[in-house]
Amino acid sequence: MIKIKTERELALMRESGRLTKNVLDLIGREIKAGMTTKDLDRIAYDYIKSCGATPSFLGYCGYPASICASIDETVVHGIPSDDVVIKNGQIVSIDVGVIYNGWQGDAARTFMVGDVSDEKKKLVKVTEECFFKAIEDLCDGSPIGNIGYAVQSHAESNGFSVVRALTGHGIGREMHEDPSVPNYGRRGTGIRLKKGMVIAIEPMINAGVYGVDFLSDGWSVVTKDRRPSAHYENTIAITDDGVEILTL
Ligand code: MF3
Ligand code: CO
Repeated sequence: MIKIKTERELALMRESGRLTKNVLDLIGREIKAGMTTKDLDRIAYDYIKSCGATPSFLGYCGYPASICASIDETVVHGIPSDDVVIKNGQIVSIDVGVIYNGWQGDAARTFMVGDVSDEKKKLVKVTEECFFKAIEDLCDGSPIGNIGYAVQSHAESNGFSVVRALTGHGIGREMHEDPSVPNYGRRGTGIRLKKGMVIAIEPMINAGVYGVDFLSDGWSVVTKDRRPSAHYENTIAITDDGVEILTL
């Protein structure tokens, strides 16, 4: 069941979205080679707590941290660790979720650390562009397949591939609500988005093949060919004539 948010509920989701964005901005300012992914997790946890908010990932299905920190070939759900030191030339995807006054925000960015290869630079740029292409002409009444079509055509026309095994999602009081939001698909297909729906659009784009492996730590998702992957996500609300990005 897809829940429509009232104006009052949207006002609350704006608040949780703003805190979610602030966490990513903070990490973007702090991240550098030599830090561990656990250092970044602590920064996120401390900031979220200082706002009187709750890190939504912590304890979710037993997940042990407040952020996901996914380096290079890790697509998503990398578990922060004191043993994982960030190195020059890596791309690090940080995904974070915040609950504030009972409402969720969810967003991700991929940060480039030091001197990264031209391929990684292009991958990060194209992944961000995939999100913005997806929302370009999205509004009340748009079929959800338009999102997947926009992401897939932009990624593939740049020589990259779209992860199929994971999707975006509705979001509200729960982190994962209906509908599922695939990053591949055909224009004009699927349910129609309506004003007041709130969804997380999150392209996961691979430099090589689209296939992924699930590692035995129970969380980490890596590319089958171990080539790099990037992730970019925002929580957005559908409005009459377009979308409102709640985490930007
Ligand atoms: N934020 C992820 C998503 O976009 C989910 C993270 S799973 C968790 O769907 F366990 F880390 F919380
Ligand atoms: Co999400």
